[in-house]
Amino acid sequence: MASLGPTPAAGLKRAVIFLGPPGAGKGTQAQEVARLYRIPHLSTGDMLRDHVARGTPLGLLAKPIMERGELVPDEIVLGMVEERISQPDCANGFVFDGFPRTLPQAEKLNEMLRRLGFNRPLVLYIVVDYDQVLKRLTGRRMCKVGGEIYNIYDRPPKVPGRCDNDGGELIQRPDDREEVIQERLVAYERQTKPLVDYYRSQGVLETVDGRPDVDAVTHSIMGILRRVQ
Ligand code: AP5
Repeated sequence: MASLGPTPAAGLKRAVIFLGPPGAGKGTQAQEVARLYRIPHLSTGDMLRDHVARGTPLGLLAKPIMERGELVPDEIVLGMVEERISQPDCANGFVFDGFPRTLPQAEKLNEMLRRLGFNRPLVLYIVVDYDQVLKRLTGRRMCKVGGEIYNIYDRPPKVPGRCDNDGGELIQRPDDREEVIQERLVAYERQTKPLVDYYRSQGVLETVDGRPDVDAVTHSIMGILRRVQ
């Protein structure tokens, strides 16, 4: 974990959106920003995986789509998000990881944010190399209990297979197999990458070099957050 000096004042009063390809480090950095600013970390991937694990109707619908590496229909994700950001714990802002990832999602989000009285979002676009994405995704392990993210190559837990925070079992995501990773990258290029230009044209996009180690990337992000606040 990076040594970043004093904890920033709680809240940002805005949505911080992490944008970037699978494996860029969106979840890793989103967890850290949410912890430092004491605001919720909202991962649509985690929300959907939770539905899949509980076998809800939404989960049954999403499971085969996620296993193929494709995107879940917009209306499903938008319903989940709207319900979540209307909760009182989101009033001081929140961090999105994995949302929005289509133009209709981004347009609908802008409308929701305006309606709920939030400032314009800040979009952090994490740029990485293709080879890094493959290594990061195939080496990723996640805590089954709290969702903490590890990597067997670059960020291993102290005890193999166990989470440092709560001792939970570390598991590999089913969509981190190489053939599914390829499909996720195709979906990213076709459906999500156009959001870079969309947000750049609105003047809310900041680019982050995601290639250095986790602490160095966190350091760059904290610099951006302090500057734009
Ligand atoms: P989702 O869960 O959002 O996955 P993703 O976007 O593919 O992104 P990842 O979680 O794989 O990567 P990440 O960038 O968060 O990287 P991480 O920090 O974990 O989505 C999964 C599926 O759900 C989608 O395919 C889709 O079907 C569905 N879905 C979700 N949201 C949706 C939406 N809005 N609309 C429609 N469908 C949706 O890091 C990866 C690894 O790298 C870790 O092991 C980490 O330790 C390591 N690492 C991170 N940073 C560094 C670093 N700087 N140096 C070295 N290692 C690093």
